[in-house]
Amino acid sequence: MPLRNRHILLGVTGGIAAYKALELVRLLKKEGAHVRVVMTKAACEFIAPLSFQALSGQSVHIELLDVDAENAMGHIELARWADIFIIAPATANTMSKLAHGNADDLLSTLYLAANCPVYLAPAMNHVMWHHLATQTNVQLLQAHGVHFISPEAGEQACGEMGIGRMAEPHTICARLLADILPKTQILAGMNIIITAGATREPLDAVRYITNRSSGKMGYAIACAAQSAGANVTLISGITALAPPRYCQFIQVETAQAMHRAVFEHINQCDIFIAAAAVADYRPTDVAQQKMKKNDDTLTLTLQKNADILADVAALPSPPFTVGFAAETHDLEHYARDKLTRKKLDMIAANWVGGERGGFESNENALDIFWQEGQKSLPMTDKEIVAAQLISLIAERCKLKITPS
Ligand code: PMT
Repeated sequence: MPLRNRHILLGVTGGIAAYKALELVRLLKKEGAHVRVVMTKAACEFIAPLSFQALSGQSVHIELLDVDAENAMGHIELARWADIFIIAPATANTMSKLAHGNADDLLSTLYLAANCPVYLAPAMNHVMWHHLATQTNVQLLQAHGVHFISPEAGEQACGEMGIGRMAEPHTICARLLADILPKTQILAGMNIIITAGATREPLDAVRYITNRSSGKMGYAIACAAQSAGANVTLISGITALAPPRYCQFIQVETAQAMHRAVFEHINQCDIFIAAAAVADYRPTDVAQQKMKKNDDTLTLTLQKNADILADVAALPSPPFTVGFAAETHDLEHYARDKLTRKKLDMIAANWVGGERGGFESNENALDIFWQEGQKSLPMTDKEIVAAQLISLIAERCKLKITPS
């Protein structure tokens, strides 16, 4: 639980999305954080402070010039207490006040007094969001070092469609988790091999068999592992992505070449993560020249490729071995079958072939299984899912090395 005992100050401003901040408090508490809530007067028009008090287990801070509140925990003390200050929802008016350093209420005063990371999750009508005044304020706030959790597109409270809905509470929570992980160096000194992308199996001099993997998931895992302090070797099929900086990068084309590269580096490996979409079969004969179009049908003979993941797990002293399962149906059934059959420590299952997630897209959701448990990571940016996966791997891997 990377948020355990973290102090999170949640600012709630006056917008219809204020009700979503209640769920955010619940999620942050579930991740082990201590949450205190500060509300603007306008926010109190939308949600009763008592609701936040009940969920956070702490009295809600509203007034700047309140003798009792200052006695309990003054505004400077509250600002110092926070490890993270997140304002969700952040209205256009609040953003404007913060951008210009106005401090006429408790929330805006805390913004000036805080020296911790500040996050804003804006929520407003889409025309207001796109207005030059708002976008200028976004730039000013970014120049202050504020992190934005972008508003989402969709139907708005006013009935119009566009970008301006506050990000969902689970997305906000996942972003905080992802940003916190790098500082915790949970994999410091560990050697990790990650496979990524699609392999290409040549048919002739110019054609090959491949699949839709873009490499985004595997590259995001490599970046997350690196941020967590690991020494990363990324063994990748050919992709359109730039290799992450500071990792050992090995590009391969075929499944056989990927197998060779993995086994050349596996000796010192502590954790192996197989995110690549490796071809299960390759053409038995590869024509040296371009095949000519003759008959109406063409029969190809394919032969099975060695399973890299299963071979790594079958080593006498295998690393902590994590596979992926990419399925179009019966996700859990096939994932659990691969977990057991290939003798893995963990498997991350994702849907492929649908509209969202899996191959090619920037987002993914994972159902992760190991022998004694499971965890679901909801649909969000692959970078965030990757950071959450790395956190879980670090947790399980350390338990395996030093069982309680
Ligand atoms: O690259 P993206 O566009 O971001 O998409 C991400 C992804 C969908 C490719 C990724 O999240 C994913 O699911 N990767 C595994 C894809 C896959 O080939 O799954 P599989 O169920 O067919 O294979 C099971 C496991 O065995 C995988 O870990 C695979 O890497 C491994 N395998 C398979 C065959 C083989 N010969 N060697 C292997 O190591």
